[in-house]
Amino acid sequence: MSQAALPATPIPHPATVPLARAADAFVMQGDALYLDCAAQAPQLRSVHAAGMAALEAVARPWQRVSPTPPEQRETLRALLSQLFDGEADGVALVPSAAFGLATAANSLPLEAGDAVLVLDGQFPSNLLCWQRRCADTGAHLRGVSRESGQDWTDAVLAAVADEPRLRIASLPQVRWDDGAVLDLDRISAALRERDVALVLDLSQSLGVVAPDIGRWQPDFAASVGYKWLLGARGLACLWAAPRWREGGRPIEHHWIAHDSGPDWRFAVHSPAPFAAGARRFDTGGLDDPIRLAMAIAGLGQVLAWEPPNIAAALGERTGALHDALDAAGLSAWTSRGHAPHLMALEPPSAIVAAADAALRGAGIHCTCRHGRLRIAPHLQVATGDMARVADALSRFA
Ligand SMILES: Cc1ncc(COP(=O)(O)O)c(C=O)c1O
Repeated sequence: MSQAALPATPIPHPATVPLARAADAFVMQGDALYLDCAAQAPQLRSVHAAGMAALEAVARPWQRVSPTPPEQRETLRALLSQLFDGEADGVALVPSAAFGLATAANSLPLEAGDAVLVLDGQFPSNLLCWQRRCADTGAHLRGVSRESGQDWTDAVLAAVADEPRLRIASLPQVRWDDGAVLDLDRISAALRERDVALVLDLSQSLGVVAPDIGRWQPDFAASVGYKWLLGARGLACLWAAPRWREGGRPIEHHWIAHDSGPDWRFAVHSPAPFAAGARRFDTGGLDDPIRLAMAIAGLGQVLAWEPPNIAAALGERTGALHDALDAAGLSAWTSRGHAPHLMALEPPSAIVAAADAALRGAGIHCTCRHGRLRIAPHLQVATGDMARVADALSRFA
């Protein structure tokens, strides 16, 4: 029997669960209260099933799998584009946010004496590539810190006004450590006035808080897939503005990012043109049906729930935690003004370790770093469960 005549092994299309039954969509948690979606999403049953089905399907490499990885890539690209500007051509698939941000750093013009603006303490995936690029070009980094009482938006606006050679600002929408939100309406307007490029790391917001691409007009925006997009590790995305879909410089030159024509030939002296749009930034190694199937299933569920509904539902959970902490006399540990899905508790420094241990002892999982307990629920957590955090901490009041 020829290969073409073999029936393809199907990877089933993942089912979605309605918002009213969202908790049922996740793999059972038992007694654990997992509040660390900012580190790694709790797993959806559909994502687990899609990964297992794809693993089965690829166990016999001589059989065709349906959909094929190129078909999966285009499905994922189209789904991701719904979180940006609706144009599948604008989305590249990359292995990490750091890879996407380094691609942006490699593409944007920068010269000796220019400045690149970042926040103090922003996630290293959105710092290290700029340090490298500045070292290579003779440009310098401007790290924004806050004065007391100032919010991040005002601190950024002051730095923008104060930096004459500012060329690029590379920022988050939501901070990874405490959920602080930047007002990108105001920041992007100030940057545009000065013709400064905007790069965004949306890893802690995409899938919950929507970016306003039309209004902010960023040059590039990257996100991991394994947090709020509920997908797989090792599969992230990079959105590129139309001008960079034509002129951006990929870091890696992989054959899937090039159009080799129908007979897949690569001539020595005439480089194959780039594939269309942001596909020029697609990286190798992502022809993996397992990660692709998981990413498609996760994103399918996020889109079915719709990010504004997810944000509202997660806002009820963090709101319930504020109420419970207020009632327990622990309101001094919290601050308002964070994103609906991500917040941090800041105990007095002498008791941070004990507070962290108390949460662990109560089966509550979150990240403790830099003196903060970061709280990041997804919809597997019931609103009523959030009081467990205040109960576990009440003896510190
Ligand atoms: C803001 C932010 N960016 C990026 C990442 C991780 O990105 P990468 O895919 O480069 O590991 C994280 C992970 O915690 C993050 O919080």
